[in-house]
Amino acid sequence: MKHLLGIEELDGDEIDHLLTLTDSFVEVSRRRMPKVPALQGRTVTWLFYEDSTRTRLSFEQAAKRLSADTLSFSVSASSVNKGESLRDTVETIEAMGVDAIVVRHRSAGVPHQVTHWVSGSVINAGDGWHEHPTQALLDCYTIREHLGGVDGLRIAVVGDIKHSRVARSDAWAFTKLGAEVTLVAPPTLLPPSLDGWPVAVSHDLDAVLPEVDVVYLLRMQRERMTEALVPSLREYTARYGLTRSRVDLLGDKAIVMHPGPMNRGVEIAADVANLPRSVVTDQVRNGVAVRMAVLFELLGSGGEL
Ligand code: NCD
Repeated sequence: MKHLLGIEELDGDEIDHLLTLTDSFVEVSRRRMPKVPALQGRTVTWLFYEDSTRTRLSFEQAAKRLSADTLSFSVSASSVNKGESLRDTVETIEAMGVDAIVVRHRSAGVPHQVTHWVSGSVINAGDGWHEHPTQALLDCYTIREHLGGVDGLRIAVVGDIKHSRVARSDAWAFTKLGAEVTLVAPPTLLPPSLDGWPVAVSHDLDAVLPEVDVVYLLRMQRERMTEALVPSLREYTARYGLTRSRVDLLGDKAIVMHPGPMNRGVEIAADVANLPRSVVTDQVRNGVAVRMAVLFELLGSGGEL
């Protein structure tokens, strides 16, 4: 594997392989000195045209734990502000000699485009509404950690599906690993066409909750909405928010997930996010090990772990 651009193009075995590789890096992360020399002499950089807390820091932590050199780059403090094009920016970074570029951009397809301009690996860290593959991998890993596997599970993905690259990558990953996925959202927050999505759809969260092993909440992505797609956030919460009383509809073992950043009080009640069955911080923790596995797989120097 040279690049990681999306989950759609991977098969179940490739996803499984990355999750198994992640086990070794979880072990590394638990060591007193959580660092291995695997990517010594390799350079990783990032090109984030959209805001990020978790994904950006998580890739940085992953690269450092693999002993890669990291070139820190912030679009907002770069010549992009002087009008430099994406291509010129990428070619400038390429000329410095980097082995991997982690790309986040508001437009779908940009990471794929970048592969034509560089000799190293490209990792998609979120492109528009399209895909966010490392998020899906860390979600699968977290489910496996808590529920023993993904195969045969019933998973509800709830909320702003229309604008969510996480929903797309997760729907592919969960179904490729054998889960049944139900999207739960008002019609206005679903994509115009679900052709090709391997999922069921429901508009009734209360009916779905008792049936599922995992409820995966998505952030209301207000920055991507050009029109009012819900009458009001209060009304949205009343029908689709995971409130404290709705949690009681879940089975005993069911877990609650969210990719972050959370709008507490909108898609998830503040106290629900803190319940033991909410595994949001495990998702973040596993994100580092998953990204170590991805970097190692793409840049693997053949060195020891
Ligand atoms: C997500 C993203 O940016 O796609 N966040 C993340 O990477 N964990 C989801 C979101 O912004 O709602």
